[in-house]
Amino acid sequence: MKRLDFYQLYDEACKARDMAYAPYSGFTVGAALLTTDEKVYLGCNIENSAYTPTCCAERVAFYKAVGDGYTKPSDFQAIAIAGGMKDEEARSKCPPCGVCRQVMSEFCDADSFLVIMTGDENGPEVHNLSELLPLGFKL
Ligand code: THU
Repeated sequence: MKRLDFYQLYDEACKARDMAYAPYSGFTVGAALLTTDEKVYLGCNIENSAYTPTCCAERVAFYKAVGDGYTKPSDFQAIAIAGGMKDEEARSKCPPCGVCRQVMSEFCDADSFLVIMTGDENGPEVHNLSELLPLGFKL
């Protein structure tokens, strides 16, 4: 991926964040998932009054893509994530939770799939999934 693309995907995640349904935590998250055929799936966190049915933005994006038939490691390039308190700027770094990392590892190649997060003034921060989930569980 070109560095410019990191910014574009990150911008999409910021737009997705506006759709978050987070009345309980007030923490809004957006995710933009890029497939290898250049489709972008957006996700936002969706909370629930019973709390446990809450779904993170990253998983919403993945499940939309999987529901459209994208299931192979070669289908996915990268995900950008932006999160922070509602009505505030995205906080510097909003890393995916452990459950979302495990879901990513189900569908992605951990050594090549990129996770893009809010960085500093030099631009978005990028890690591959194996850095974020070393020794991830696989059957
Ligand atoms: N959240 C995400 O959407 N992604 C993450 O990786 C971590 C947390 C959401 C879940 C919940 O709605 C809110 O952030 C506070 O935990």
